[in-house]
Amino acid sequence: MFKIISNTLLGAILLITPAVNAQSGFRIDPHIQNITQDGATLIWESNEEETGSLTWGPKGEPLSNTIDAAKLGKIQRVRIKGLSAGTEYTYSIATGEDVKSASFITAPVDKDREITFIVVGDSRRWGNRWSETGMDEHVLQWNADVYVTMGDLVGDGHQYEQWPEHFGRFASITQSKWFVTARGNHEGSQIRGTENDWFAKYHELPGDGEPYAVFDWGNTHFVLVSYESTGREKDWTKSAQWLDRHLESVDSQYTVVAHHFPVYCTGYYSDDLSRKEPGINAGEFRKVLDKHNVTLNCTGHTHIYERHYPLRNNQRDDENGTWYVVNGGDINANFPDWWSAVTDDRQTQAKPTYTVYQMKSDRVVARTFAWSKVNNAIEEIDYFVIAPDPSIGAATLKNLSNQKGDSLRDGIKDLGALLFAPAAKPLLEYLDHDDESVRHAAARSLALLGNESIAPELVTYLTHSDPVVAASVARSLEAAMPGKLAKSVAKLVLDEAVNENVRFHLIGALQFHASEKLAADTMVKLLSAGITGELRNRASYTLADTATAKHTKAMLELVQAEESKYVTFTLARTLNKVTGNRVSLADKGPLANSEPGDRGAMVDRWRR
Ligand SMILES: [Fe+2]
Ligand SMILES: [Fe+2]
Repeated sequence: MFKIISNTLLGAILLITPAVNAQSGFRIDPHIQNITQDGATLIWESNEEETGSLTWGPKGEPLSNTIDAAKLGKIQRVRIKGLSAGTEYTYSIATGEDVKSASFITAPVDKDREITFIVVGDSRRWGNRWSETGMDEHVLQWNADVYVTMGDLVGDGHQYEQWPEHFGRFASITQSKWFVTARGNHEGSQIRGTENDWFAKYHELPGDGEPYAVFDWGNTHFVLVSYESTGREKDWTKSAQWLDRHLESVDSQYTVVAHHFPVYCTGYYSDDLSRKEPGINAGEFRKVLDKHNVTLNCTGHTHIYERHYPLRNNQRDDENGTWYVVNGGDINANFPDWWSAVTDDRQTQAKPTYTVYQMKSDRVVARTFAWSKVNNAIEEIDYFVIAPDPSIGAATLKNLSNQKGDSLRDGIKDLGALLFAPAAKPLLEYLDHDDESVRHAAARSLALLGNESIAPELVTYLTHSDPVVAASVARSLEAAMPGKLAKSVAKLVLDEAVNENVRFHLIGALQFHASEKLAADTMVKLLSAGITGELRNRASYTLADTATAKHTKAMLELVQAEESKYVTFTLARTLNKVTGNRVSLADKGPLANSEPGDRGAMVDRWRR
């Protein structure tokens, strides 16, 4: 009661005292939301309660239209209506002596219009890195129409104090471009604690809003699902039913489905594989993406960057699959899995990352950028092209013989980006090219193609004098290899004379394409031979995936003496699995506190 009276009094004072309030100013700058063909919403927050207002007009003309906020308050939300499609407008908003003006463009009317959008994931842990690394400027070169994020914008969305940091980080973008967000788990519940649901107060989602927000921009239809409608099996299933009905009536050239928890992910580098879990429950949802030929699935949550091979019916299908990309904001991917086309590299890359998608009439061109720790610069870490018409790949391949230098290199790179399978065999001849950049492009494209039909030829390049060629070829075998090569690959894995990066990827080749017995037996030999570092980590990871109770004795010996925490926990997790006896893997549990050679009690427990 008292609050209402005081608000009314303050309103009255403001009305009769138009002089500026020196205490005022923006707590959160105006940011644009829910841009449609005929309207847009501006949301901002002042430090003091005010009856805010907004002036606007077509760009280049006087701002002759004024809209007053509906009521006295700090957070204001004003919708500009009656606009024309694909048109630029300017707005200006004042609070106290603080004035913010910017321009925005309404959604286009043309359903064939090519568009560009940028995807940003899990930005809450970025601190100042977005501006420090120059990403804030770097994204502007694409002149994107829209930005899409999959949430985790702040640490705890129900904490009022946390929001200015997020809006401050992206203010130079969000004043004129729509940052449309699928709510992440860190935004907090939409259902519980609604009076502290600051995400809802600071955002306006399109269509029916949460949990299923949809909009069209040019040739692309976007669907955003809030995190509370995925995650548990029953949530995925309910969302799958909604999505199935919804996509029946969508006829856009491209469909993008974005939500926080990944359908597939390798998980981040840790001895705890919990981040692999989400996709396991997404069965029904995944089937709907298949059924409606969804172009792209964008997710976050797991703090890594990874792009999967196109997947359909839970299998790689380069021609007809949906492309799955996890933009988790950070760099820290686990070892690749069978579905991984590209994972980030924690040795050389750092946050932040973003992906730009150019939705062209005949193809989607996508590039991902991250900070390079090695070169202190923003670098392209992934490049891929979604082209439904195979004649694009065929023409690129046909042109190759006429190209030289940079254009030859770029053509080869395009063939890998396109996943154009018929290029696999012709690319082999470039692995010995005199020009290093051509050689490396061919090796990297072959790694992406991961084509089983050329695997026997690839084996001869595993000992190539150029280490990039040798390692890329090994990566190609990791992606696809016929089982009959497994025995010769196992020999190379155990051969100390072979390059470590080659052995690293060949471990994966055994994990995914050899019999479980051969893979596990080889890993036990490798670990017992005293390999170290990443090779040892990878071997334990592969052993975890392939070991059976028959490997218990060998693993007990290994775990007794193990020095590395990662390997110790990975072995322990595997021993829990194969013996059925559980030793606590808790951070402060007995295993975490144990020393090599002093794990007798745990070993006894597993032996029981
Ligand atoms: Fe997150
Ligand atoms: Fe999350």
